[in-house]
Amino acid sequence: MTARPHKKQPRKILVTSALPYANGPLHIGHMLEYIQSDIWVRFQRLRGHEIYHVCADDAHGTPIMLRARDDGVTPEELIARMEKEHRDDYRDFGISFDNYHSTHSEENRAIAEGIFAALQGGGHIARREIEQSYDAAEKMFLPDRFIKGECPRCGAAEQYGDSCENCGSTHTPAELRNPVSVISGSTPVLKSSEHYFFRLGDFSEFLKEWVDGGHLQEDARNKVSEWFADGLRDWDISRDAPYFGFTIPGESGKYFYVWLDAPIGYMASFKNLCDKKGLDFDEFWRAGSETELYHFIGKDILYFHALFWPAMLHGANHRKPSALFAHGFLTVDGRKMSKSRGTFIMARTYLNHLAPDYLRYYFAAKLNHRVEDLDLNLEDFVRRVNSDLVGKVVNIASRSAGFVHQHFGGKLGGALDDETLFAEFTAAAATVADHFERRRYSRAVRVIMDLADRANRYWSAARPWELAGAGGDGEGESDAGARDKLLAVCTQSLNMFRILAGFLAPVTPALARRAGDFLRVDLSAAGGWDDLQTPLLNHTIAPFTPLLARIDRRQVRNIVNDSRDTTTTSDGATVTSATATTASAHEPLAAAICMDEFTKVDLRVARIVKAEAVAGADKLLRLTMDLGFETRTVFAGIKPAYAPADLEGRLAVVAANLAPRKMRFGVSEGMVLAAGPGGGDIWLLSADAGAPPGSRVK
Ligand code: MSP
Ligand code: ZN
Repeated sequence: MTARPHKKQPRKILVTSALPYANGPLHIGHMLEYIQSDIWVRFQRLRGHEIYHVCADDAHGTPIMLRARDDGVTPEELIARMEKEHRDDYRDFGISFDNYHSTHSEENRAIAEGIFAALQGGGHIARREIEQSYDAAEKMFLPDRFIKGECPRCGAAEQYGDSCENCGSTHTPAELRNPVSVISGSTPVLKSSEHYFFRLGDFSEFLKEWVDGGHLQEDARNKVSEWFADGLRDWDISRDAPYFGFTIPGESGKYFYVWLDAPIGYMASFKNLCDKKGLDFDEFWRAGSETELYHFIGKDILYFHALFWPAMLHGANHRKPSALFAHGFLTVDGRKMSKSRGTFIMARTYLNHLAPDYLRYYFAAKLNHRVEDLDLNLEDFVRRVNSDLVGKVVNIASRSAGFVHQHFGGKLGGALDDETLFAEFTAAAATVADHFERRRYSRAVRVIMDLADRANRYWSAARPWELAGAGGDGEGESDAGARDKLLAVCTQSLNMFRILAGFLAPVTPALARRAGDFLRVDLSAAGGWDDLQTPLLNHTIAPFTPLLARIDRRQVRNIVNDSRDTTTTSDGATVTSATATTASAHEPLAAAICMDEFTKVDLRVARIVKAEAVAGADKLLRLTMDLGFETRTVFAGIKPAYAPADLEGRLAVVAANLAPRKMRFGVSEGMVLAAGPGGGDIWLLSADAGAPPGSRVK
């Protein structure tokens, strides 16, 4: 075999992922990006390269300032809280950043000021007065997204200042009919002030060359070429107070626009890492650097990264990115994520029900190198993960492990059963590596699953259970032959499993760790990719513990339930919106009752402290419910929708003044209200509904 590039010289690589805004939690759309970049970085580490993956919270801008004000905290308090939440989400999704920082940091301030000064020194910064929409009541200029009105083209109400969701037209806030400020409700006025501009046009020659220089994916390049054709306009990089950001040096009440210092945050996070680790910052960022720099981004922020950013770097005499890796957007079940459908899934909500490897695997199985949207089909997700990861990969280990421990004291044999088959596996390493390198993860996964199929066919054909029957106790001549064969077959199988888990290590790191513990090898060691070429022989493995459980459809259903839009009642109790299905919508209405009759029902929020199945009843659960002032026993027919263990800790609305009813299994002291068509689709409140038990529901 010929030497592959990675054998020559370890590469020095800096990878960034886009910096999430610090005004909200991460959702699984965000995670698509971080999983994509993390897989690539983990793969490069396995190959023995020197690689750093940095990220940070994007902490500046109007939305963050306003959100902090709404929450009654300072922006600094808000961004500290968000940063902690984001860090926890990344950690629990197995995203292995080498450093996580914030754009609201001293490193970022210093580098941003330096770059701005260099651009100014080069004559690339202009200043001029412009007129903008202004909220006189709030004494602040209004970003386009904070103005709503009627579309100038189609007349649709409640459209933003920049575009119409109804007819798709783009416009300026001044063109909106009957505009109002989203913040105060007042009518915006026009007001002028002086702004700073980055003269992007100064860089058009440089950018043309850069864009054609092989740094962009083909589809991204086409997009950028269209923008070129539209002309490169000056970019407004300042904002007036009130704003949350860095003050422009020498000014008061003027700030850098959030998007000026956001990409500089990549450098700041890396600088922060360099200071901690004694790395050479300039080696990675000076013009002409021989290190590699890659930015993973979503397609929506391509303009900033393909035009402004290289121009800024060029103007400030820094190196340019080696390449941008842009991805498309995540849809769920074929549509944009939606709160009412329960498909706007927060990273934390997912983690409350399922381990990260499942989603990492599913994304990998569908990701490629293009700027294409990716659909998470929830049915397909369950089926694919269960059949591939559990059914094909993990199964190989669990089946062979039993024999090795039962008959051979947990020790693998001294030889493989089928060297040729093993060689097929090791030879695939080059192909799999090539696919990972080029971000064709779906192809890498396909190759790996084809091998898993091979391994399973091999196992069935070898009929180890018969060998065990014949030679298991090691007595007699022919029995000894069967026994040797059984050991060789198990040794072969576990070695194939090791390769599969090793190939998958960038995708499913937790599985790789457990598989490594079981095989007593490190499948994630830096530079460990080539270790897979040598089989494990005469090697003692650990007792088998389950590596990965099947996904239960119910877990996915619970994720969707917990993500469903909730509405808040006057005293803060959260009530799941009743989702009428066609079936129930067609049921005739019961006789009308008057308000007096309705208000007689005392609805209270209660916490389920215990949930138990009722012997002899298919659907009933016996719930012990804490109403705040007392504890009740309530029977509810929701077993088809919830496993008892999933219910404990959750909240529900209870009709609290219903007279106790004697049922076949005991007395029910109230009634649980839930919405849904029934069967497996019944929704209660989530555990964090925000209403203490006992709250009255109005
Ligand atoms: N703060 C900016 C990025 C600054 S980078 C110098 C920003 N933040 S974001 O929180 O809105 O998005 C962070 C990343 O997540 C972006 O790359 C964005 O494209 C990606 N995604 C956000 N929603 C997404 C989906 N629904 N699907 C896939 N990626 C998505 O933009
Ligand atoms: Zn319109």
